[in-house]
Amino acid sequence: MVIKNVNLETVCGYTSTLPDNTLPEVAFAGKSNVGKSSLINALMNRKALARTSAQPGKTQTINYYNINEEIYLVDLPGYGFAKVSEAEKKKWGEMIEKYLHTSKQLKKVFLLIDIRHKPSANDKMMYDWIVYQGFEPVIVATKLDKLKRSQVQKQIKILKEGLELKKGTTLIPFSSISKQGREEIWAIMDEIVDT
Ligand code: GTP
Ligand code: MG
Repeated sequence: MVIKNVNLETVCGYTSTLPDNTLPEVAFAGKSNVGKSSLINALMNRKALARTSAQPGKTQTINYYNINEEIYLVDLPGYGFAKVSEAEKKKWGEMIEKYLHTSKQLKKVFLLIDIRHKPSANDKMMYDWIVYQGFEPVIVATKLDKLKRSQVQKQIKILKEGLELKKGTTLIPFSSISKQGREEIWAIMDEIVDT
């Protein structure tokens, strides 16, 4: 897709009613600090439209980026951020669940996992929950630039085993710095726009 314009159209907090969009949506889920907002910027070719931070817990709302009036990229808050209160954690969890459960236009869920680490219990729970909701998530293994090339296959194996990925699940190694993986992600979204 040629990106002509991008626009942060809707921001939803805990008490907001989710928009009843007509365009297709794709969502980016993953633990806090895994690189969701950075990935969205890389996809949109913007440096900082989606706010990122070295501090986990940056994105606390559900943010809908309208691309060309063709598709929404939906930036979700991260889960599993240790430093927030239990009440806060519960709120974010409920927001993510409500979104995945009720959005009628949600066509694809990308689940981001840091390629350097074994998936956490929260990652596994999220994966299972997405599958349970009837989606076939695409796994994006983020921060690829932080690994030596010789480590990549081993980490991918750890990731696949840790999540117990279903056979045939697409896994895309990605770096928001080198932009490796960007075209593969766009190919999936282009297919959604074209159908
Ligand atoms: P929350 O909004 O807190 O859930 O985090 P997030 O998943 O949106 O992460 P964000 O994009 O804000 O990135 C977190 C940190 O990781 C920032 O310091 C980014 O610069 C860094 N980061 C993200 N992606 C990459 C990557 O591919 N490579 C490297 N080296 N750093 C990355
Ligand atoms: Mg974020």
